[in-house]
Amino acid sequence: MPLEKPYLDIPGTVIFDAEQSRKGYWLNQFCASLMKPENRARFKADERAYLDEWPLSEAQKQAVLTRDLNECIRLGGNIYFLARIGATDGRSFQQMAASMTGMSEEAYRTMMLAGGRPVEGQRGRVDWPTGDAGTPTAVAGARMTASVYTSHVPAMGVAMDLGKTGEDYWRPLFAGYAFSRQWLAEHTPDVVVLVYNDHATAFGLDLIPTFALGTAAQFHVADEGWGPRPVPPVIGHPELAAHIAHSVIEQGFDLTLVNRMPVDHGLTVPLSMLCGERDPRHEAWPFRVIPLAVNVVQYPVPSGRRCFELGRAIRRAVESFDAPLDVQIWGTGGMSHQLQGPRAGLINRAWDNAWLDQLIEDPRACAAIPHIDYVREAGSEGIELVMWLIARGAMADCAEPPGPKPRVLHRFYHVPASNTAVGHLILEETAP
Ligand code: DHB
Ligand code: FE
Repeated sequence: MPLEKPYLDIPGTVIFDAEQSRKGYWLNQFCASLMKPENRARFKADERAYLDEWPLSEAQKQAVLTRDLNECIRLGGNIYFLARIGATDGRSFQQMAASMTGMSEEAYRTMMLAGGRPVEGQRGRVDWPTGDAGTPTAVAGARMTASVYTSHVPAMGVAMDLGKTGEDYWRPLFAGYAFSRQWLAEHTPDVVVLVYNDHATAFGLDLIPTFALGTAAQFHVADEGWGPRPVPPVIGHPELAAHIAHSVIEQGFDLTLVNRMPVDHGLTVPLSMLCGERDPRHEAWPFRVIPLAVNVVQYPVPSGRRCFELGRAIRRAVESFDAPLDVQIWGTGGMSHQLQGPRAGLINRAWDNAWLDQLIEDPRACAAIPHIDYVREAGSEGIELVMWLIARGAMADCAEPPGPKPRVLHRFYHVPASNTAVGHLILEETAP
């Protein structure tokens, strides 16, 4: 059963949700451009020509040209963005609102002076059942089938991109992923929820979302300064992503939603490690990807417990999606490493392996480990490991009521890759 949208039947009202936002992305971007005087001048000089610079549908362009705000809204426009058109025309919010009601400006003004539009008869269907956002239903829906964990060291991607994986330095590391590539080729999911961290690529210091879910149809490969990696673009799953957003936010996690986001090594290196080399000119990644970016760059970063609980919420969301999708969740980053200062190069094999044992056997206890332990024991960048707890929390044994424990299909640990200890794990769900 899809999540309920009790707002759909309210008369004369469109709620700007993830679907509308996706539909209206460029329409709203065009509107936002009108905040600059030079763009307003160009639009006024030749509206059609200025609109033609934007990838809008013809219907969206016509709606703007005719100032049909209701149609603009139906086609994904949001009133705060659309107000830039009215402002450019020198119109007030009241004039814009009146234009959408079928009333004259004068009649609308008079109605407002008389106390406004009465709510009677305007509530829509009020007996809509209240939805429990995440409850799985009996319908054969999406299933969470496995979780995969891996480090994302950029040098591993470079080794693949430059054909160096057979060199002595890299051979033992890539040998540790041979099983995984074979397994993934035989158990290719439809969608991977890929939990990773952005490394000052999509997000700078102006805006630091703690948890940012990618709801776009496509994510391009970032240029981190060395030029973009020669790998295919990442194809999203907007419908499932919007559903996860809806469900997880209702479950109490105030996600940031991202409609445009370049993805860096944190996301592309795990894909390469598990899928092997892919020529972007005529190959695609074998599944859709929903990126979930977690802030581990600027403190405060989310706690292990919060990450674990988010994973549990994502499982509930996925399992309530009404389409027979095979979904995996990947946790990436780690293991012990420190990239900065005189303590750079710190590796703690004993701690890493004890942490992996606990992640597998007692994820709740693992989730209780405080940040300071990661920093002290696994290095400042070892904090990336909290992201693995999101994937672990999405396994059946962490659900309510708990299902069976996952099977450890593969476990690998290697030192070093560049500055980092590399960890890799595959947990597969077992039948209840
Ligand atoms: C390295 C590891 C990382 O996780 C990263 O994001 C950047 C560099 C490294 O070991 O070189
Ligand atoms: Fe990293």
